[in-house]
Amino acid sequence: MQDRFVKGEVIDITHFDGGCFAIKAKANIPPYSAGQFTKLGLMIDGKIVSRAYSFISHPDDDYQEFYLVEVADGILSPKLKALAPGDEIFLYKNANGLITHQRLPEANNLWFWVTGTGVGLALSLIKDRQIQKKYQDFVILHGITDATKIHYQQALADLGENVHYYPVVSRDPSTNLLQGRITHFYQGLQAHIPQPLAPEHSHIILCGNPAMINDANALLTEHGFEKHRTRTPGHITMERYW
Ligand SMILES: Cc1cc2nc3c(=O)[nH]c(=O)nc-3n(C[C@H](O)[C@H](O)[C@H](O)COP(=O)(O)OP(=O)(O)OC[C@H]3O[C@@H](n4cnc5c(N)ncnc54)[C@H](O)[C@@H]3O)c2cc1C
Ligand SMILES: NC(=O)c1ccc[n+]([C@@H]2O[C@H](COP(=O)([O-])OP(=O)(O)OC[C@H]3O[C@@H](n4cnc5c(N)ncnc54)[C@H](OP(=O)(O)O)[C@@H]3O)[C@@H](O)[C@H]2O)c1
Repeated sequence: MQDRFVKGEVIDITHFDGGCFAIKAKANIPPYSAGQFTKLGLMIDGKIVSRAYSFISHPDDDYQEFYLVEVADGILSPKLKALAPGDEIFLYKNANGLITHQRLPEANNLWFWVTGTGVGLALSLIKDRQIQKKYQDFVILHGITDATKIHYQQALADLGENVHYYPVVSRDPSTNLLQGRITHFYQGLQAHIPQPLAPEHSHIILCGNPAMINDANALLTEHGFEKHRTRTPGHITMERYW
């Protein structure tokens, strides 16, 4: 088990509001693709305890970066949050995940319906030049409880004028952001978002909370979207975080 991990070092840790944080690490791992994930591990009682995390760094960067939330009562995430530069961290040798530019199908625009730290997947993919060439527009609906969970708005805007980021808050009526769950306003979507969402010209990535993915998948299926598979291309690609 332990030989599947590479020992690395934390080089930076950023603490954001809302219990979120970003870890920058340096470990000598083999190349990975934008959109993939690896496992981060810590040595606990002589064993590596690990969980999956999406890269938010670009594969060309000489470090690896991840965006996390501390899960209340979680086993690993509170310990990862307590790390400091110089601390030891283990990265799984081989990256995993099929949400890469090679696997995603052609479409005019690429949509993301993501919750919480699932927004990291959008950040990683849109940094990729192959992905930028493949799609004209990127539309990110980011489901979050409240505005304290918005941390990459500027980083996404910096990726280009074709990147459109829409936070949707479910428990923060005091803001003028889109209100509710991302699945709740499909019918009136065009009133809020000018970019079209339709199976003819969109591919949609669902990432994060599994309940959102189930609900979104059912809703989109009703509207003619189909699950994307290598052998039978469709319009929906999913990554459940738990
Ligand atoms: C492919 C993949 C990629 C992932 N990428 C990320 C990532 O980039 N960033 C990230 O923060 N997490 C990510 N996760 C989730 C991560 O692997 C852990 O499950 C999470 O950090 C909790 O670990 P823990 O040991 O603290 O909690 P555990 O003690 O293992 O408890 C797990 C419980 O925590 C809750 N939970 C897990 N993940 C989240 C989350 N992200 N937001 C809210 N609640 C959650 C669920 O209720 C779950 O049942 C990913 C998971 C998968 C499968
Ligand atoms: N350490 C800290 O300071 C701190 C602070 C806050 C939170 N946290 C931790 O952070 C973790 C993540 O919490 P989170 O609330 O951001 O994550 P989350 O449960 O993934 O919720 C994110 C968003 O997804 C929405 N959602 C949930 N189910 C959905 C569905 N079926 N369809 C559509 N949307 C759906 C939620 O809406 P609803 O609101 O309507 O459910 C919310 O807007 C928690 O484990 C918590 O313990 C830590």
